[in-house]
Amino acid sequence: MCGIVGYVGNSSRPAGAGHGALDVVLEGLRRLEYRGYDSAGVAVVADGAISSRKKAGKLGNLLGELEARPLPESLTGIGHTRWATHGGPTDGNAHPHLADGGRLAVIHNGIIENFAELKQQLLAKGVEFSSETDTEVAAALLGDIFRNQLGGDSSKGSLTEAMQLACQRLEGAFTLLAVHADQPGVVVAARRNSPLVVGLGEGENFLGSDVSGFIDYTRRAVELGQDQIVTITADSVEITDFFGAPAEGKEYNVDWDPASAEKGGFNSFMEKEIHDQPDAVAQTLLGRSDLNGKLTLDELRIDPELLKQVDKIIVLACGTAAYAGLVAKYAIENWCRIPTEVELAHEFRYRDPIVDANTLVVSISQSGETMDTLMAVRYAREQGAKTISICNTNGSTIPRESDAVLYTHAGPEIAVASTKAFLAQITAAYLLGLYLAQLRGNIFTGQIKDVLADLSKIPAKIQKILDNSGPLRELARSMKDEKSVLFLGRHVGFPVALEGALKLKEIAYIHAEGFAAGELKHGPIALIDEGQPVFVVVPSPRGRDSLHSKVVSNIQEVRARGARTLVIAEEGDEAVRDYAEHVFYVPETPTLLMPLLTTVPLQIFAAELAGAKGYDVDQPRNLAKSVTVE
Ligand code: F6R
Repeated sequence: MCGIVGYVGNSSRPAGAGHGALDVVLEGLRRLEYRGYDSAGVAVVADGAISSRKKAGKLGNLLGELEARPLPESLTGIGHTRWATHGGPTDGNAHPHLADGGRLAVIHNGIIENFAELKQQLLAKGVEFSSETDTEVAAALLGDIFRNQLGGDSSKGSLTEAMQLACQRLEGAFTLLAVHADQPGVVVAARRNSPLVVGLGEGENFLGSDVSGFIDYTRRAVELGQDQIVTITADSVEITDFFGAPAEGKEYNVDWDPASAEKGGFNSFMEKEIHDQPDAVAQTLLGRSDLNGKLTLDELRIDPELLKQVDKIIVLACGTAAYAGLVAKYAIENWCRIPTEVELAHEFRYRDPIVDANTLVVSISQSGETMDTLMAVRYAREQGAKTISICNTNGSTIPRESDAVLYTHAGPEIAVASTKAFLAQITAAYLLGLYLAQLRGNIFTGQIKDVLADLSKIPAKIQKILDNSGPLRELARSMKDEKSVLFLGRHVGFPVALEGALKLKEIAYIHAEGFAAGELKHGPIALIDEGQPVFVVVPSPRGRDSLHSKVVSNIQEVRARGARTLVIAEEGDEAVRDYAEHVFYVPETPTLLMPLLTTVPLQIFAAELAGAKGYDVDQPRNLAKSVTVE
């Protein structure tokens, strides 16, 4: 939530490559806008002063403002794109916030929990506030320390020292970036439980909420730890803790290129990411098994003996990632015979869960920064559990704080609604399940080899669904005025139904619910009325026959009550034809792997329908990509 960029250079970049600080910061904000788009703002240090502009609404509004009221050339700047927490999305609440008589500018991601108390103290000192934000309080505190406690002498009481002292008094989760007119050529940043990475350049350095904030300029990045402060100039990066003790970051190379974070000819990132899915699955499978069908997850680095002793698995995640976890449960229990629970991360630690050294906690997160998931993982570790993170973002906090990580290789996911990360998460969960089964001798190597062979065919099958999506898209467009759509599924089709409903509500703002088909008669069937559209995800007729015929009965039941039945079924399943208004076929595949295929039509449906309504499918209202506050 909220995108943050900072930049210091020592000479103007060549024309066309992002000229001064403002160009670099705006390009970073463009790439980070998916993290929040309630307002945007920038500040630069130039001519011994701070100049800033900020505007409610999307980045485009800020660009208009900058055109009308340009900023001076500068080599030092910060920028922010906001997802509102304290105070509505207005110009006044937008960041940066100024303090110290307008000589200090601060941007912030997160929540300062003790802001009310600090505000009272500052009000008592005569400080005036013009916004409702906690950020302005942090800025005022920093300004007060810089000016009054350290005497405002930049040679002695530096901005870095002021930041250290301020952070000692702040509670909550935050990333803060500050620039001061008295210290041109310096950006100081702090992080506690909120994301921040450093980008290393030649004669210039960068800060970003994630690497997309500077990916156009450098691939060299530095991970920071919790409770650290970093001071960047054009030629230096210095890291300390909140008390001034020197600290080190971990340098790494970003392994995706900027082009993969562009729309690539599609109308939206979401559409592009739906089309990226064959590759996302293929990349996640790549290099993780040998020719004999033996899984080689060397990166897991948890003592295999410990994994053999695991007697319970708890999968922790939120939203779409939690639905990937539900799919994982079916596969892991089937292959490993280890009881597996799936829990929404935000519920987990508040219910005194039973966790011990034999519990394996698997967290799933695209961003690796979801605060609810991070807190749940921390809690599980404190209770002695072993923790594995399935994550798409290299160097992010959740994998760093877990015992081991299994990266999904879906590439950057920019659209707020998750698509390719979901399929990659499911793929990684299958690999983990098979690995545990291999380790514990639950299934034969031959069986593992067969599943891996089936998995290797999935990318081409997804491509086939994408290539034949015309009729589904036509149907979606024709349904743009629907008020409600229901989704039914059973077994692994149940999480797919939940995901189909979530996609539709979040980007098309249509009421949508996913149900386990067996639950229908226990209540939800009362919702069925004349013309109610119902998607039904039908299990393969080749697998558990009883389940197939039961779901076909469910289709008949809702149809008999007037529903329009829209059926996702396996190729060759003729039994559904008589009861379906529309059938969308997916290629044959073993039941457990089916979600990798049956999800795709539902993603396409939601994206097409939302597009037909004229909505911005990449940036749905009220949402942001990384939920970094609890
Ligand atoms: C929905 C969606 C969210 C995320 C959830 C967890 O399309 O994207 O429900 O899945 O916020 O995010 P991560 O995976 O980053 O932890």
